Amino acid sequence: MKNSNDKKLIENFFRKALSNQDVKDFVIEYSQPYKELMSYYRCAIMEVETKFNVLNEELSILYERNPIETIKTRLKSPESILEKLERKGFSLSVENIEKNIYDIAGVRVICSHPSDIYNLSKAFLAQDDITLIKEKDYIKSPKPNGYRSLHLIVETPIFLHDKKKSMKVEVQFRTISMDWWASLEHKIRYKKDIVNREIIDQEMLACAEISADLDTRMEQLQKLAMQKKK
Ligand code: GTP
Ligand code: MG
Repeated sequence: MKNSNDKKLIENFFRKALSNQDVKDFVIEYSQPYKELMSYYRCAIMEVETKFNVLNEELSILYERNPIETIKTRLKSPESILEKLERKGFSLSVENIEKNIYDIAGVRVICSHPSDIYNLSKAFLAQDDITLIKEKDYIKSPKPNGYRSLHLIVETPIFLHDKKKSMKVEVQFRTISMDWWASLEHKIRYKKDIVNREIIDQEMLACAEISADLDTRMEQLQKLAMQKKK
């Protein structure tokens, strides 16, 4: 942590440097490729989100219910990109960001039931412009803390005015109960100076197991409700 004198010195250094036109031009020129890359990721998010909206629309007519509850999207923040590059030992460059960080574009698909996750991911991966790069099934094999979700890293094309570009997108599939558990776990885990770590971890795992059990029971109810009179 820097003291306020150090901070003032750094601030003055940057203010002075940025008042120089050459430095200004350099920063603008350097930030342009970053802005372009982030814009490509935003396009990739739109492409993938649309694919899920289309599947939801079609399946809701076919099965008389929406398999998707909500879709959340996010673009990784510049601070998180910097932190991840540093953690993985890569120097800061636009090329390194594109080549080595796979979760700049994130799409989270919140489904009603676990089977919806597998049906949707199968239909999504069967599309001929989607390439699977990596899959982690934390539903079949939950993390030791109880975290459940299906993670895919895929490549999707985006169509620009003069070229087609392939972009990586991280897609996370969760049920509503997997999602609330993960959201609350994230908030609780990031509380600083936790003294009751062990009991919290145990309880967190117990809650994940209850939540998985509720998912199974709710899915059974859905199946019962779909049964037709003989
Ligand atoms: P990151 O470097 O964090 O992106 O992880 P990774 O490359 O090892 O990928 P992984 O697929 O394991 O996890 C990616 C993302 O899943 C995280 O950024 C979170 O959004 C989510 N996630 C993974 N594990 C947990 C967890 O234990 N709790 C919660 N709340 N979220 C998790
Ligand atoms: Mg991540």
